[in-house]
Amino acid sequence: MEIKSICCIGAGYVGGPTMAVIADYCPEIKVTVVDLNTEKINAWNSKDLKKLPVYETGLEEIVKSKRNKNLFFCTNLEKGIKEADMIFLAVNTPTKTSGLGKGEASDIKWVENAARQIAKYAEGETIIVEKSTVPVRTASTIEIILNSFTIEKNLMKAQKSFFVLSNPEFLSEGNAISDLRNPDRVLIGGKDKEAIKSLISIYSKWIDKDKIITTNVWSSELSKLTANAFLSQRISSINSISAICEKTGADIKEVSKAIGMDKRVGSEFLQCGPGFGGSCFKKDLLNLIYLANFYGLKEVAEYWKAVININTWQQNRITSVIFEKMFGNLSNKKISIFGFSFKANTNDTRESPAMYICKDLLEEGAFLKIFDPKVDRDKIYKDFNNIELKKGFSNWEVYKNYLDACQDSDAIVILTEWSEFKNLDWIEIRNKMNKPAWLFDTRNISNKKQALEVGIKTWHIGQENT
Ligand code: NAD
Ligand code: UGA
Repeated sequence: MEIKSICCIGAGYVGGPTMAVIADYCPEIKVTVVDLNTEKINAWNSKDLKKLPVYETGLEEIVKSKRNKNLFFCTNLEKGIKEADMIFLAVNTPTKTSGLGKGEASDIKWVENAARQIAKYAEGETIIVEKSTVPVRTASTIEIILNSFTIEKNLMKAQKSFFVLSNPEFLSEGNAISDLRNPDRVLIGGKDKEAIKSLISIYSKWIDKDKIITTNVWSSELSKLTANAFLSQRISSINSISAICEKTGADIKEVSKAIGMDKRVGSEFLQCGPGFGGSCFKKDLLNLIYLANFYGLKEVAEYWKAVININTWQQNRITSVIFEKMFGNLSNKKISIFGFSFKANTNDTRESPAMYICKDLLEEGAFLKIFDPKVDRDKIYKDFNNIELKKGFSNWEVYKNYLDACQDSDAIVILTEWSEFKNLDWIEIRNKMNKPAWLFDTRNISNKKQALEVGIKTWHIGQENT
């Protein structure tokens, strides 16, 4: 089946960049990204490219050259679905907050709603591509919804048929465009050979065929959860060792380098930090834990639960260190927070360790002076509202540059590894800060020597600190 028109349901961190890259490599295909959220669609259509809802290196350039040529953003789901030969599902699948499986199972209501909309509006043959990360066997739920509708419509002689494929996304935020352009692999799970061929024909416009692998649907769905579980496990492992380093005089950077050089371990993803954040690792681990419990595999569930527990422990431990070093009292102390996004090069703050560490500091009575190069005040305000602060609701302010955020402050806490934190003006900083001044670097990105030279007391994660 030749694909002339693609629709993507969900214009978020996955849908937006993924469709931009497809539109870029396939100028002959019309790509429409639809979303229920009008504000978000308006932002995607904004003349000012700085206002795009997703910040990713290289994204603005593609949107600039492809938007309203073969890349469209709109809220008209019906039209988008009707026109499409292939529909990507890139809706959110967060952890359920109430009901059965609350706190663990993924909420697939958005997937189900989207499937119902497809069933209603699609015409002719349509390939459905599951991009969202979902519990194993979700494709069968989608198929049941679509087929029940087809039977009903067929009675009225309307012709519809659907082919469901699983094609999980492995991009990581901050590197989305380069990950999409040059992925380690593209995974396609499905039954229908022709539908698989159609999807391969799109990816093979820019990706080597040997990087495109096909599996059955369930292996594909489970591989996505497993990939995130393995990656988050590495971070919890290295974070647990960071605490041992601090007690023993070993240096986590040296330990990471030494073990990463073993090819069987590999050097990527061994950076210790304030715990993993982002919208996916915790959610997907919880999803796996739910699945394991559902199938009566208690030990498997406990094993993965431990990865989350270490992550929470790492976040809590940072507040405890700050509290102890600052004489067991943070009341009315001013603390400069450097970085609020969950990692560098993204404006995403979902499950950011910064948010949880800030919450603890506010509840200890500190006043926070926050600087992040890409996260604005509105987003921080919404995050603090969502985490139900017990104290310190208005004890924070956001600054446009790091020096203003240091004025009269007692400590700096680096929570995101933005590259601008590598070269800070330590003399200027020292002149602005109260005495004694502290630096807590949870990403090991700042220059410890320079900070010490100007008389700032430092604590770097996973290192010997005096
Ligand atoms: P997101 O919240 O940024 O975007 C999802 C969008 O879908 C939202 O804008 C929402 O309004 C829209 N939506 C929901 N239901 C809809 C409907 N019925 N019709 C139209 N629009 C609808 O989420 P995201 O970060 O892009 O993640 C999407 C999925 O991809 C999740 O399952 C996630 O686990 C997975 N994933 C995310 C990443 C990542 O880096 N963020 C990477 C790989 C996989
Ligand atoms: C992660 C995976 O890397 C992607 O492959 C996957 O597609 C995505 O989840 C998803 O399913 O959503 P992402 O969450 O965007 O991508 O970001 P990562 O680079 O994986 O970082 C996650 C967290 O781990 C961040 O808080 C980061 O600071 C932390 N991290 C990462 C470390 O603490 N140390 C490291 O060495 C690497």
